[in-house]
Amino acid sequence: MSKIVVRGGNELKGEVNISTAKNSVLPIIAGCILSGGKCIIDDAPMLEDVFVISDVLRTICAGIDINRSSNRIIIDSSNIEECDPSSDLVKKMRASFLIMGPMISRFGKFKLSLPGGCNIGTRPIDLHLKGFSALGAEVNVGHGYVEAYAKKLIGSKIYLDFPSVGATENIMMAAVMAEGETIIENAAEEPEIEDLGRFLNSMGANVIGAGSDTVRIIGVKNLKGTRHKPICDRIEAGTFMIAAAITRSKIKINGINEEHLKPIIAKLTETGVKIKVNGDSMIVDGTGRLKPVDIKTMPYPGFPTDMQSQMTALLCTIQGTSIVTETIFENRFMHATEMKRMGANIKIDGRSAVIEGVDRLTGAEVRATDLRAGAALILCGLSAEGETQVTDIYHVDRGYVDIEKKLQGLGADIERVE
Ligand code: EPU
Repeated sequence: MSKIVVRGGNELKGEVNISTAKNSVLPIIAGCILSGGKCIIDDAPMLEDVFVISDVLRTICAGIDINRSSNRIIIDSSNIEECDPSSDLVKKMRASFLIMGPMISRFGKFKLSLPGGCNIGTRPIDLHLKGFSALGAEVNVGHGYVEAYAKKLIGSKIYLDFPSVGATENIMMAAVMAEGETIIENAAEEPEIEDLGRFLNSMGANVIGAGSDTVRIIGVKNLKGTRHKPICDRIEAGTFMIAAAITRSKIKINGINEEHLKPIIAKLTETGVKIKVNGDSMIVDGTGRLKPVDIKTMPYPGFPTDMQSQMTALLCTIQGTSIVTETIFENRFMHATEMKRMGANIKIDGRSAVIEGVDRLTGAEVRATDLRAGAALILCGLSAEGETQVTDIYHVDRGYVDIEKKLQGLGADIERVE
C-alpha cells in the first residue's frame, strides 16, 4: 500500500492548477443515466471515486470510456438496464447512492444496496427516501437494500429538514422527468448543486434555482445526451491556500472561482493571510504574522466541513487559542489524534476542538483516517520539522488529483512510496 513521505520546512513558490470538482462530477456521472444517450464530460478529475462510480455504471450496462490523457469521460447510457449493481462497489463509495434518483426516474423501479456509514459519521439517507416517497414512489428498506417503485413519478413540494447535498441532488434527478412541478425547499445551496442543475438543463431538463434554497423542477418528457465541464474544485483550491499559509509562503493558484471560495477567503484573511484574486487566479501570501481564529462548519455558504481538518492543521501552527466547531458530521475530528502525534496541542470537547498553537510540529508516522484528514496531515507534514509519513493514502487518492506532484511543483519535498 502506498504512503506519502514529506520532509517539512521547504518554502513553497510558483503556481498550481486546480482540477475540476470531485463533488460535482460524481452526481453528474450519475445524472448521465437520465439521458438514455451519450454524454461527454470534459476536463474530468481522474480520481479513485470517479473510477468507482464509473464501475458502478458499468455494472448496470452503461458504456464508459475514460481517456486519462485528455481527461475526457464518455458515458453511453442507451443500454442501461434496471439490474442490481454490485453491492461491493456501492458499499465502497457512498456517492454511489446518487444513481438511485436517476434510475427510479428512468425505469420506475430500482433496488440498491444501502450505503453504510463511514469514518466521519453515520450518514443516513432518510431525506433522500423522503423525497422519493413525496414524488409518489413506494420505498422499502430491508435486508441491506433500498427498493423503490413508482408507476409514475408526480411532482410534489418537498421540505428538507436539513439542507443535505446528496438528498437535494438525488431528488432533483428523480424529479426531472416527473409529471408536473417539484419544489425542494430548504435545499442545499452548494455550488456543485448549481453545476448539476446546469448539466441537467443542458440535457433538456427545466430546473430553476439550483444553488439556492428553493429548487423548482418542471418535469419534461425526456432528456438527451450533452457535453459538460464541471466547475473547479473549491476544496482542492482551499487545501492549496492552506499549503501556502502553513508553510508561510506565497503561491499562485489557477483555476478558481472567487465566489465559491468566499467562506475560506474570509477565514484565512482573518488569520492574516493576504489573498489577491485576479479573475480565475489568486495569489495567497502567508508570509506575515498569523493570528488564531474560531471557525464553525455550516452548510454553504458557511465554512465547509470539507475544509475543517485542513484549517485545523493551520491553526495548530498559529500561536494562541483557536476553537473549531464541527456541526455537519458527528465524528470528523479523527485527524486530531494523528496531529497530536506530530506535537499539536488539541483538546476535543464534544463537537469542538480547542487548539493551542505550537512553535513547530514534528514529523511522525500518521494515518489518513479519511480523505480530508489525509490532506490535512500532508499539510502538517509540509510545515513540520523532519520527516512525516502519511499512511492509508488511498483515502487521499479518492479526492485529490496528483497531490504529491502538484506540491512537488511548488517546491515541497514530498514523494509517494509504494
Ligand atoms: N443527512 C441526514 N439524512 C440524509 C442525508 C444527510 O441526516 O438523508 C445528514 C448527514 O448525516 C450529515 C449531514 O446531513 O450529518 C450532511 O450530509 P449531506 O447529505 O449534505 O452530505 P453528502 O451529500 O453525503 C456531500 C459531499 C461530502 C461533504 C458533504 C457536506 C459528495 C459526494 N460528498 O456529502 O464530501 O462533506 O456533502 O458538504 O458531494 C468530501 O468530499 O470529503 C466529502 C465528505
